Amino acid sequence: MEIALLGGTGDIGEGLALRFIRDTDHTIHIGSRTPEKATASADAYATRLGDDAGEITGSSNETAAERASVIVCSVPPEYVVSTIESIESSLTPGDVLVSPAVSMNRGPGGFVYEPPSAGSVAQAAAQSAPDGVPVVGAFQNLAAGALASLENEITADVVVTGDDEAATATVTELANELAGIRAIDGGGLAATASVEALTPLLINLAMNNDGMHDLGVRFE
Ligand SMILES: NC(=O)c1ccc[n+]([C@@H]2O[C@H](COP(=O)([O-])OP(=O)(O)OC[C@H]3O[C@@H](n4cnc5c(N)ncnc54)[C@H](OP(=O)(O)O)[C@@H]3O)[C@@H](O)[C@H]2O)c1
Repeated sequence: MEIALLGGTGDIGEGLALRFIRDTDHTIHIGSRTPEKATASADAYATRLGDDAGEITGSSNETAAERASVIVCSVPPEYVVSTIESIESSLTPGDVLVSPAVSMNRGPGGFVYEPPSAGSVAQAAAQSAPDGVPVVGAFQNLAAGALASLENEITADVVVTGDDEAATATVTELANELAGIRAIDGGGLAATASVEALTPLLINLAMNNDGMHDLGVRFE
């Protein structure tokens, strides 16, 4: 499968790219607003993986989306909608958009979830996605640092939410291919807010408690 990571030059993009390349046979397309930056990141990820490096390319976000059927919007939450709009002509019905984004602010007591008016970033993404291109929420509760430290054995759940059965099945299957990850069904897209809202809690726990760096969740 061809997977695009829009803004794949950033933290979660790096973590997901490294894990997908190492653990699966899928081709990864790193996207960026600056193609040269994407190429440099793709080269750096391939170098890090050495013999484990599968197929990885770097390009503009538009080209990465054009090449892929699963497109992960790994950009800051406030730019998810504008990024989807900027690649709209690269999307075709049947493509799947994935939203790992979480909208939160840091206050005096720590991070607080602050969803957009759509209810969640994933729902805002769905409102801007073209017809026939479903949005699936996933990966919000994974810590980029934990993913990018490849020697780190992860044991974490990825809650998958969405309204399109085939799209959620595709993302569930992909997430389950990552070593140590268990993808679980979190319900429809309207339930995504409760998944996104877990992330500020994880970050606050990590900041306030020794030994809890790069926390994930496992539901047992
Ligand atoms: N970091 C984590 O641990 C983590 C975990 C789970 C979920 N997430 C979510 O994943 C998303 C990305 O997080 P991140 O930490 O990877 O973010 P990040 O490193 O700050 O940014 C990711 C990429 O977004 C692109 N970007 C920056 N400003 C932009 C703009 N104005 N318009 C379009 N693209 C822009 C940049 O790529 P180019 O400059 O190359 O275009 C950047 O490399 C966020 O929504 C976050 O909530 C993060």
